Amino acid sequence: MSILVTGGTGYIGSHTCVELIKENYDVIIVDNLYNSSKEALNRINTITGVMPKFYEIDLLDKDKLNIIFEENNIEAVIHFAGYKAVGESCSIPLTYYQNNITTTLNLCEVMKSYNCKKIVFSSSATVYGDPASVPIDESFPLSTTNPYGTTKMFNERILEDLYISDNEFSVILLRYFNPIGAHNSGLIGETPNGIPNNLVPYIAQVATGKRDFLRVWGNDYNTVDGTGVRDYIHVVDLALGHIKAVKYAMNHLGVEKINLGTGNGYSVLQVKDAYAKASGKDIAFEIMDRRPGDIATCYADTKKAKELLGWQAEFDIETMCNDSWNFEVKNPDGVK
Ligand code: NAD
Ligand code: UFG
Repeated sequence: MSILVTGGTGYIGSHTCVELIKENYDVIIVDNLYNSSKEALNRINTITGVMPKFYEIDLLDKDKLNIIFEENNIEAVIHFAGYKAVGESCSIPLTYYQNNITTTLNLCEVMKSYNCKKIVFSSSATVYGDPASVPIDESFPLSTTNPYGTTKMFNERILEDLYISDNEFSVILLRYFNPIGAHNSGLIGETPNGIPNNLVPYIAQVATGKRDFLRVWGNDYNTVDGTGVRDYIHVVDLALGHIKAVKYAMNHLGVEKINLGTGNGYSVLQVKDAYAKASGKDIAFEIMDRRPGDIATCYADTKKAKELLGWQAEFDIETMCNDSWNFEVKNPDGVK
C-alpha cells in the first residue's frame, strides 16, 4: 500500500517514513528540499534497508504533483510540507499563506481527482492560542496569534469543508505539542536553519559550544519555577502516532482532530537541567524579558488519542534529551 509523505525529508517526516517502512508501507516522498536535504533519504535507507521513492517537487506546482498520482497508486497522504517558523511568519506572512495554504489546496484538488481520499495533516497546538486552562482537549476554542498558526487553523478548516462536501473523505488533523529528540540511531534529527527559535535546538547549540548561553524568556509566569511550561514529545512517539492515524483513516470516514502530546508539562529550566544531564555539559543561561506571544503553560489532554487511535507517548524527557544529544554529537552540521 503506497503512502505519499509530503515534506518527508524534513524533521518529523523523515522519522515518520522510518516507522511507515517498518510497518511495510510503500513510502513515496515529495519535498522541494527547501528545509531539508536529500541525505535524509540515505539515512532512512541506512536505518530501514529501504530507499523511499522520491520526487523533488514543489507542491505549489500542481502539474508536477499530478505526475506523482499518475505514476503511483496512492492510498493515503500524510501532509507535513510547509513553513514552520513563527517569527518569520510575522515578517513574511504572504509567503507563509501562499506556501502553507496553496500547497494544501493543490494537494486536495489532485487527491480528489485521483480518488485518493485519506489525509493526515500536521496541525499544531498553536491553534489553541492562549488556552483558558490546561490540560487542553480537542474541543477547546481555536485562536491564533501569528500567521503561521493561522495557516494551521485555515488548513484545518479547508480539510473540514472538503469532508463536508464529500463524505468519502477521511481527514485526521493531528495537533502536535512540542516535538523534540531524534531517532536513537543518531542518523536523523532536526537541522535548524540559522539561529534556532525553539528551546531544545537552542540548548543543543549551547551544549555543543555553538552558542554562549540560553536566553530564558521570562521567569515570572505562574508556573513551577516561573519559566514557561510545555508538553515536549519525542519525535519517534509522534511518528508512531502518524502510523496509528493512517491505520484509523483506512477504516473510518469523517474528520477527527487529535492531540499528540504526552500530557506532561516541563518548564524551561527543567528541560535545561535534563539536557545538561544528558550531555554532561553545563548549560549557561540568563533570564530575559518574556518573549512576545508566549503563553505560560501548554500541555495536552491525551485521552482522545488513547481512545480513538490506541496511541500514547512512551518516551520520557531523559530519553528525548539523550537522543537529541546523540544526534548533535554525530551530526555537528545536521543531516546534510
Ligand atoms: P521541516 O521543515 O523539517 O519539514 C517540512 C518539509 O516540508 C521540509 O523538508 C521542506 O523542505 C518541505 N516543504 C516546505 N514547503 C514545501 C513545498 N512548497 N513543496 C514541497 N515541500 C515543501 O518541519 P517539521 O518540523 O518536520 O514539521 C513538519 C510539519 O509539522 C510542518 O507542517 C509543521 O508546521 C508541523 N509542526 C511542526 C512542529 C515542530 O515543532 N517541529 C510543531 C507543530 C506542527
Ligand atoms: N524558550 C526560551 N528560550 C529560547 C527558546 C524558547 O526560554 O531560546 C522558552 C519559550 O519561552 C517557551 C518554551 O521555551 O516557554 C518553548 O518554546 P519553543 O519556542 O521551543 O516552543 P513554543 O511552545 O513557543 O512553540 C512551538 C513551535 C510552534 C508550535 C508549538 C506547539 O515553535 O510552532 O510549539 O506545537 F505551534
